[in-house]
Amino acid sequence: MKNESDIISLRLLDQIDVDDFMEWSLNENVSKFFTWGTFLTKKDAKRYITKFIATHPWFRAICLNGKPIGYICVSPDVGSRFKGEIGYALSSKYWGKGIATKAVKMVAATIFVEWPHLVRLEGMVNIDNIRSQRVLEKVGFTREGVLRKYYIFKRKLSDLVMFSLLSTDQLT
Ligand SMILES: CC(C)(COP(=O)(O)OP(=O)(O)OC[C@H]1O[C@@H](n2cnc3c(N)ncnc32)[C@H](O)[C@@H]1OP(=O)(O)O)[C@@H](O)C(=O)NCCC(=O)NCCS
Repeated sequence: MKNESDIISLRLLDQIDVDDFMEWSLNENVSKFFTWGTFLTKKDAKRYITKFIATHPWFRAICLNGKPIGYICVSPDVGSRFKGEIGYALSSKYWGKGIATKAVKMVAATIFVEWPHLVRLEGMVNIDNIRSQRVLEKVGFTREGVLRKYYIFKRKLSDLVMFSLLSTDQLT
């Protein structure tokens, strides 16, 4: 576990956070689970923050005692307002301390209030990403099943596990 005195908080991510942002976005343990590549320069990272993060409907930095160590976001489904997808990542040196679980719990407890039109929050996880599956289970998401050969991941047709949390579900 993290130290009792550690504070986990969520806040908007800005250009001034670029060095912290690069710490997790350049981390190979992290990008292993994502379809996106890494940023080679600070300029590219800054451009990404301006173009994609600042304009994202719901994107927050996960902070440990004020320092951004990862992110969490909720992306609305294209075409159906009642659905959204959660995504998150942490620099690998902070893994295994319950931080992602805490951050997902914080979002799950507030997003249905912030977005009253949202009914279903989905978590779509690569079948080999056991840590992330565990996070969603611990928060109270329902594991609905495996979508076989559902998407191309690192040039390989891969299976995805579908999790969901409904606005009426109880958090654990
Ligand atoms: C997924 C991720 C956010 C988890 O962060 P985290 O802070 O380490 O997660 P937590 O500590 O809250 O929980 C991890 C759980 O996985 C468990 N776990 C870790 N390694 C495991 C393994 N190899 N097999 C099974 N369980 C494992 C931990 O024991 C813990 O469960 P527990 O509390 O019941 O013991 C982090 O690993 C990450 O950033 N990964 C890369 C990006 C990513 O995969 N994002 C999600 C995309 S869907």
